[in-house]
Amino acid sequence: MFAVYAAEPNPDKPLDALRVGERPEPEAPEGWVAVSVRAASLNMHDLWTLRGVGIKPDQFPMILGCDGAGVLPDGSEVVLHSVVGDASTYGDETLDPKRTLLTEKHQGTFADTVIVPARNVLPKPAALSFAEAACMGTAWLTAYRMLFTRSGLRPGQTMLVQGASGGVSTALIELGRAAGMRVWVTGRSEEKRALAARLGAEGTFESGQRLPERVDAVFETVGKATWAHSMRAVKPGGTIVVSGSTSGPDANADLQRLFFMQLRVVGSTMGTREELAALLRFCELAGIRPQIGAELPMAEAADGFHQMLAGQTAGKIVFTR
Ligand SMILES: NC(=O)c1ccc[n+]([C@@H]2O[C@H](COP(=O)([O-])OP(=O)(O)OC[C@H]3O[C@@H](n4cnc5c(N)ncnc54)[C@H](OP(=O)(O)O)[C@@H]3O)[C@@H](O)[C@H]2O)c1
Repeated sequence: MFAVYAAEPNPDKPLDALRVGERPEPEAPEGWVAVSVRAASLNMHDLWTLRGVGIKPDQFPMILGCDGAGVLPDGSEVVLHSVVGDASTYGDETLDPKRTLLTEKHQGTFADTVIVPARNVLPKPAALSFAEAACMGTAWLTAYRMLFTRSGLRPGQTMLVQGASGGVSTALIELGRAAGMRVWVTGRSEEKRALAARLGAEGTFESGQRLPERVDAVFETVGKATWAHSMRAVKPGGTIVVSGSTSGPDANADLQRLFFMQLRVVGSTMGTREELAALLRFCELAGIRPQIGAELPMAEAADGFHQMLAGQTAGKIVFTR
């Protein structure tokens, strides 16, 4: 079948490991289902996979794509939940030490067909297109958990999102706005800050710029490049929620500020099936749709990867079949 995959790990030139070609058609074991993929979205995770981060070398070749939406053999339209883990033992499958995301151990969604455990498909809301639904399973789910499960923010409070145009960032802006937060955003260019404003940010700032006042919570996926600013931006007793470190993880922890200002630094990863169901319902009820910056045929996936690697994002990059 057609597939976009990583041939081998390549830490320095990740796009050299990208292949668009043929992979064997998968067969669903008992308890799993085969989903005919209609759309899937690109995540930074796919670039990490090409670099060999978060995946063992013997797992290559690996079909890329952590999320998606498609159709079951009986014709029902579904959204994929990409966390494969044990929810019955841990209550929350993201806390299962053996949990994996699609593309770490199991093949991903940039293909004609993907197989997943039956519990990892949810009904696709009719209000969302396949392309929109494909954005939900990773970036939007991560943003939902950061904001609603991990931050402790209440409507009317102020949140700072580091980064304006990325998948997680745009999801945080739209979700925060819809939930009644005052959303402030840093962006690396005027164009990206204008996008954030269009999506509902009340204030936009250059990266590292001093804010008019300290915020209740900061949302971090950038890491080293923005960490010092995040630590300065949050008010005493406030929270920094972290789900990524794109620019590098080895930031100065600034422990003195951490204890003196009584800050909370909270980690967050993906989300549960139940959170994904709630996210889908929230999008329907609040009438919000993911910001899609580029929609490309899956055969042209390499263009999307180049855009993400160059930081040329304007929301999600989606591939369709
Ligand atoms: N833990 C999890 O479950 C989870 C889930 C999803 C994503 N993540 C992580 O979150 C990160 C973002 O993923 P994504 O898919 O949203 O990527 P993306 O769409 O490529 O977005 C990257 C974002 O990072 C910002 N950025 C990158 N380098 C920067 C720098 N040097 N200074 C300031 N801002 C910078 C960009 O800001 P501008 O808009 O200003 O360019 C953009 O908003 C990745 O590290 C990913 O691995 C983790």
